[in-house]
Amino acid sequence: MSNGDITFHTRKWVRPEDLNANGTLFGGSLLRWIDEEAAIYAIVQLGNGLAVTKYMSEINFVSSAVQGDLIEMGLTATHFGRTSLTMRAEVRNMFTRESILTIEKIVFVNLGADGKPAPHGYDTITYDRDRVPTKHLEQFHPQD
Ligand SMILES: CC(C)(COP(=O)(O)OP(=O)(O)OC[C@H]1O[C@@H](n2cnc3c(N)ncnc32)[C@H](O)[C@@H]1OP(=O)(O)O)[C@@H](O)C(=O)NCCC(=O)NCCS
Repeated sequence: MSNGDITFHTRKWVRPEDLNANGTLFGGSLLRWIDEEAAIYAIVQLGNGLAVTKYMSEINFVSSAVQGDLIEMGLTATHFGRTSLTMRAEVRNMFTRESILTIEKIVFVNLGADGKPAPHGYDTITYDRDRVPTKHLEQFHPQD
């Protein structure tokens, strides 16, 4: 589902282990989910399993969720740099339909095998799976 340019990919079911002392969704759980979502998005866009979180801008928690709620996370690429990809994120509560948070800038950096920033060569969003790597690191797939 889309909201403007944002495509909402992943849904989560808020469970007891995801709550804070106030009985609402723990921000740390949400950030872990968003970071993973952004990593997957970056890998699919940049065609490289070696992409790391570099920067996250201000995170504005505007509403919350309670146990049993369903939330959905969306991302879109806003800038393709030489070695980086900048994304915008939004999370919303599927039950209340309210936005839970927005993050204007999440920057991932594309790394080479030496762990240093490497040009990724892309400047547009793909909506297909054409860039998905066919394998990860050599050490995990030595027979390939
Ligand atoms: C990612 C890392 C290799 C980048 O190293 P670096 O010396 O900052 O690299 P560069 O200065 O060449 O910058 C690489 C890209 O990141 C961008 N960048 C660097 N700092 C940035 C910042 N604070 N905000 C936004 N973008 C930034 C640069 O503009 C550049 O993008 P471009 O090539 O598209 O123009 C290094 O910072 C690192 O290893 N960080 C830890 C990453 C990590 O482990 N993340 C997991 C969470 S702990």
